[in-house]
Amino acid sequence: MIVIADGTCMVRLLQVMLRFYHHESCGQCTPCREGMGWLHRIIDRIVAGEGMPEDVDRLYQVSKLNDGNTICGMGDAAGYATVGILNKFRNEFEYFIEHKRSLCDGNLESMPEIFINGQSIQAERDQTVMQAALAHGISIPYFCWHPALSIAGNCRICAVQVEGRSWVEIACNMPVSEGLRMLTDSEQVRAYRKELMQLVTLNHPVDCGICDKAGECTLQDYHYKYNGSPSVSREPKVRSTKFHPLSERIVLDNERCILCSRCVRFTREISKSNALGITQRGDTSLVRAAEDHPLDDDPYSDNVIDICPVGALLSRPFLYKARVWYLEPTPVRLPGLRPRLHDPDLASQVRVEAQRARPAAATSASSASRRSKIRR
Ligand code: SF4
Ligand code: SF4
Ligand code: FES
Repeated sequence: MIVIADGTCMVRLLQVMLRFYHHESCGQCTPCREGMGWLHRIIDRIVAGEGMPEDVDRLYQVSKLNDGNTICGMGDAAGYATVGILNKFRNEFEYFIEHKRSLCDGNLESMPEIFINGQSIQAERDQTVMQAALAHGISIPYFCWHPALSIAGNCRICAVQVEGRSWVEIACNMPVSEGLRMLTDSEQVRAYRKELMQLVTLNHPVDCGICDKAGECTLQDYHYKYNGSPSVSREPKVRSTKFHPLSERIVLDNERCILCSRCVRFTREISKSNALGITQRGDTSLVRAAEDHPLDDDPYSDNVIDICPVGALLSRPFLYKARVWYLEPTPVRLPGLRPRLHDPDLASQVRVEAQRARPAAATSASSASRRSKIRR
């Protein structure tokens, strides 16, 4: 039996289920091989707001084609799920197709109430615990999560605890649900984060003294906030490339990279250049530029320097030019930069930083360094 929270969008639920069946189909028999892909593409189109009135009947029809006609029970299972949901919630599908949004969206009455550290929060539907917490000023640490990128869930620093459970779970990938009670700072959460920070820094060079990111580095901040202890390891650190040229403008320090994959997802999802990927395995994994998609060809590539949470991606023009505490930010509104729909404040977050005068002994160049940043 599957228990589904009240107010769940059945169209999106069917999309998740059909994605599963499409992925799991081994492809041996024709009805399942072709039918799963067809069902999946139809439901994807509906959720994307491109559904057609005849799609509901088409979902029925394709499901019935599978029913009893596949080698194993996979086709039947997908058909039962699809027909069952359509029988009971046909109106939700018709509404989604007509209005290009879910019947459940924007319904204030169905906004779930959750509790974080005992504080009542009215979360928005489809939010994760991370989003709901941040929206209400409750801090949860994160390296790999970014509001404009897909969820990777790989760094694990955002661990939180559901009240009454004896284990921790990640907040960036946990959907809110009515009555959910979370702890973000329990003894267990603190102990877990401390151990995780030991792992994050296990092979990190901690060469903050020569790192351009020092002073605004998430790893530095979290080390002091959540760990604070020296490494317990007596093993030699795994060494890696210190200055790997990713492009004309960007060098990569693989020893500092914590493999959060933000830069990789940026080139896949935002700039769409697919210029970066991760090669090799385990603790020898490396971020590298794709051979057939040079990072130099990506006009937005400099953004990866800013979204890197540590000092792994470095700007060649800015390299060793200034310490961040000597920089003075000036907010700018760039002509032609239009706010994105989901982030109307983006244009006002761009700032230019200029190096202010330093004490004479510390100044090696008279010209001021400049860089522009979009902070997250
Ligand atoms: S990435 Fe952060 S922690 Fe690592 S050397 Fe640079 S400033 Fe230090
Ligand atoms: S280079 Fe930076 S952004 Fe890219 S995976 Fe490593 S730590 Fe993350
Ligand atoms: S921020 Fe949640 S796993 Fe990285």
